[in-house]
Amino acid sequence: MAWYHNAIFYELYPRAFMDGNNDGYGDFVGLRDKLDYLQWLGVDCLWITPVFPSPLRDDGYDISSFYSIDKMYGMMEDFILTIKAIKDRGMKVVLDLVLNHTSDQHPWFMDARKSKDSSFRDYYVWSDTPDKYADTRVIFVDTEESNWAYAEMTGQYYWHRFYSHQPDLNYDNPKVQEEMLNIARFWLNFGVDGFRVDAVPYLFEREGTNCENLPETHDFIKKLRKMVDEEYPGILLLAEVNQWAKDLLPYFGDDDEFQMCFHFPVMPRLYMALAKADRTSVIEIFKDTPSIPKNAQWATFLRNHDELTLEMVTPEERNFMWDFYSKDMRQRMNLGIRRRLAPLMNNDRRRIELLHSLLLTLPGAPVLYYGDEIGMGDNISLFDRNGVRTPMQWTSAENGGFSRAPVENLYAPPIMDPDYGFSSVNVESQQADPSSLLNTIRNMLHKRKNITCLAEGTLTWLEELPVSVLCFWREDKNSKLLALHNLADAPITVPLPAGTFGNVLNTDTYLGEISMQPYGYYWLKLQN
Ligand code: NOJ
Repeated sequence: MAWYHNAIFYELYPRAFMDGNNDGYGDFVGLRDKLDYLQWLGVDCLWITPVFPSPLRDDGYDISSFYSIDKMYGMMEDFILTIKAIKDRGMKVVLDLVLNHTSDQHPWFMDARKSKDSSFRDYYVWSDTPDKYADTRVIFVDTEESNWAYAEMTGQYYWHRFYSHQPDLNYDNPKVQEEMLNIARFWLNFGVDGFRVDAVPYLFEREGTNCENLPETHDFIKKLRKMVDEEYPGILLLAEVNQWAKDLLPYFGDDDEFQMCFHFPVMPRLYMALAKADRTSVIEIFKDTPSIPKNAQWATFLRNHDELTLEMVTPEERNFMWDFYSKDMRQRMNLGIRRRLAPLMNNDRRRIELLHSLLLTLPGAPVLYYGDEIGMGDNISLFDRNGVRTPMQWTSAENGGFSRAPVENLYAPPIMDPDYGFSSVNVESQQADPSSLLNTIRNMLHKRKNITCLAEGTLTWLEELPVSVLCFWREDKNSKLLALHNLADAPITVPLPAGTFGNVLNTDTYLGEISMQPYGYYWLKLQN
């Protein structure tokens, strides 16, 4: 079993996590200072969102130089020391590898846009008309009308799958492929453990297709995997591929593409099952999920730095989710919902815990999003998805302990409202309270590590029970766990299969049946 099979991942924005030099922006010195906390929490692997020089029009996913870190995060030395400190603690770290596009401020594009003769012209995708590849959907529907943007200086259009300030790279150019492999090498040489590879399905374009998941894209990923296997054995490649399970499967290849893919279709169904008190959609999506190569693992999550995407549900389901979870139209963005976990749950501890329990007991390695472990809120008045990227709340002191800079100098205002603000929601007070959300989640994370069947065990549903309960077995040769979840706001008594069950989260034993509180959950270990 590889390390990532049973790892707890934690995604963080360095800019938002901890400010080490009090300039109002989180940085590597600050992150280093908080590694004790992450280790205490039980995190095995950090996923650090892009830290490269960037105009920050897409929060760092718009890269203007691939070979350094933005000075707001510190010097290269600070990066190196932080990676070392992470590794010294036995933790792992993956960086974002943004393959698909650059910022329009990247020197390649600045040169390419000037003249058709530029030696970088062919690094991007150009056309005389905006009609090519007409079968391709627009992803950022709230901001972009087309995947083509006009470049005045040369009178041609360039291709972009995301913002128009993010031109797509041209993977038909072998030089681009080689550049991107070199960028991966550059960061791997610092000892990072792998990459979360951004926006994978869109690398190539072909007329008459939707320009997603093309065979050529798989060929390039195979090249990337071959390079890391040969030159950096053991490196993890984790794919951001927001697609249906059948389209996700090929990204594992024959264990020659990614070792991990985010399971995008599972995520919204967890929320849907809870909203409807009906487990059906979760069971269906797992039944539709093909088995994956032995070395592979799913990455599962509840929230991340983007909007809660509803791309992988039907239009009816999307409308249901929007109506249920984003009554205020400002909370909707593209095909999703720009809210954090706790507000989505109306700050209901029972439902926040229940979703975590599902995340930690269903198949896949869980990826947590910074701040959700304390129930941080969001700020709808901030532009785009910035409302879910506000400063981490460490203490009840000024700026939530994130920075000692004057509040107007912070990269974003900290959350200060009575329900979610740092005075009431912060790490320090929750660490001191054994019954806090933070301690409860921490307890679950640590329990999970020792239950081997949760890493790779089989999954068997208890489908004879009422639909409002989501109950299943996980089993491997060492352990057998029964996970019980009551999705409804009403108590229920559930018959237990034959055997004696011990509660993993405390010491009770059960025979025959078990009563569950509204939104209650149990992890029961079979003892005989
Ligand atoms: C995927 C990232 O998760 C998202 O934040 C970004 O906006 C797009 N890629 C485009 O770069």
